[in-house]
Amino acid sequence: MKQITTQVAIIGAGPAGLLLSHLLAQRGVESIVIESRSRAYCEDRVRAGLLEQGSVDLLGRIGCADRLHREGLVHDGTWLRFGGQSHHFNFTELVGKHVTIYGQQEIVKDLIAARIERGGAIEFEVSGVSIHDIDGAHPSVRYRDSAGGEHEIRASYIGGCDGFHGIARGMIPGIVATEHAYPFAWLGILAKAPPLREELVYAHTDDGFALFTMRSPSVARHYLQVPVDESSDDWSDAAIWAELRRRLGDDDTGPPLVDGVIMKKEVTPMRSFVAAPMQHGRLFLAGDAAHIVPPTGAKGMNLALGDAALLSTAIVEAEAGDDTLLAQYSELALDRVWKAERFSYWMTTLMHVQPDSTPFIVQMQLAEMRYLCASDAPAMAFAENYTGLPYAIPLDRIMPVPAHV
Ligand code: FAD
Ligand code: DHB
Repeated sequence: MKQITTQVAIIGAGPAGLLLSHLLAQRGVESIVIESRSRAYCEDRVRAGLLEQGSVDLLGRIGCADRLHREGLVHDGTWLRFGGQSHHFNFTELVGKHVTIYGQQEIVKDLIAARIERGGAIEFEVSGVSIHDIDGAHPSVRYRDSAGGEHEIRASYIGGCDGFHGIARGMIPGIVATEHAYPFAWLGILAKAPPLREELVYAHTDDGFALFTMRSPSVARHYLQVPVDESSDDWSDAAIWAELRRRLGDDDTGPPLVDGVIMKKEVTPMRSFVAAPMQHGRLFLAGDAAHIVPPTGAKGMNLALGDAALLSTAIVEAEAGDDTLLAQYSELALDRVWKAERFSYWMTTLMHVQPDSTPFIVQMQLAEMRYLCASDAPAMAFAENYTGLPYAIPLDRIMPVPAHV
């Protein structure tokens, strides 16, 4: 077995693991990232697409936001559609912040390319990953490389950034999961089609929820609420466009919904899940490894980046002799995670048709949306949460000097 020593062993090359390795590197802490999938698979995996302003700032501080600034679409607000009418929320006017549309797979591409260009170690297509000795000062991670060679990484810390189906969470003794399942799912498509509007449209209709979002001025991403056990094979392209037109295309005040070629379609289950604590000994969880939100409001990837920012700072400060923040990592991360869980749950239950919905529940949803549109107080709360709540620590503590790379 080949042995190698580094300061941080990071499992998973998703947004959390990649950002963690960059932030550590820029503050002089060495790491190695191992990933079970191929580089091509990671770079092609279509998932989230909406970045909070804080996420964009973080990527800027590590010098990985040039393409994001060139190609990302800055949105000052969003549309809410219910009762057949569209209502606009201007985040910039409400809370002085905006969001940016830029695909998760583009961020992953940028982070992988920059990490490799800067001499960072990422090993793809590993298997048989196991975690050892997290209670001692020298934990380790063992794995097989793509050629079958056995390796052991000895480190001071392990970053469990291996997503919801990873192995790291299971290594934390006494970890407790708190979860909630929703009785519906999302059918998502990526299509070569013009945008419905310049900003996103979240629609509450009698037939279920629909969301129009985009990846570029010529690529649309649409989501439809579907029954929980639906397969994307049950939906022909024609049926998808017909349903989108029913839920989103009845807007006389906006342009008509234009069909296009569907390039990808998939069904995503909706789940809220939080595992606590997010740390034990020398093992620290970040991102989906510890928590999942339903996608409404796009918090998943943003939370993963926020965890990585807090964890990197805690490790950097611990390596400099002060482990106060590291000891508080789980508590501080979970405080923000639970607030995002609340917002995602609220937005999901506000906008979807429950299978056992009653006329009373529907009136509650409609009254809440009318209240949101009629008063600045709830509109500001919506905008504040949607554009991203503050991190537990300021950006200047996460990455003190803007990167010159
Ligand atoms: P991941 O991106 O899951 O990265 C974890 C990495 O670890 C993966 O690359 C995985 O291959 C690797 N890995 C797993 N096990 C091992 C192992 N044993 N050894 C080595 N590597 C391992 N969020 C939104 O905000 N909006 C959306 O529209 C949205 N859509 C989504 C659609 C789908 C189908 C899914 C699954 C998620 C979606 N999300 C969405 C959530 C968002 O994509 C995640 O929150 C985000 O990817 C979390 O990043 P992460 O780095 O924590 O985990
Ligand atoms: C996207 C996904 C979301 O769940 C959301 O609320 C906003 C945007 C997206 O994929 O772009």
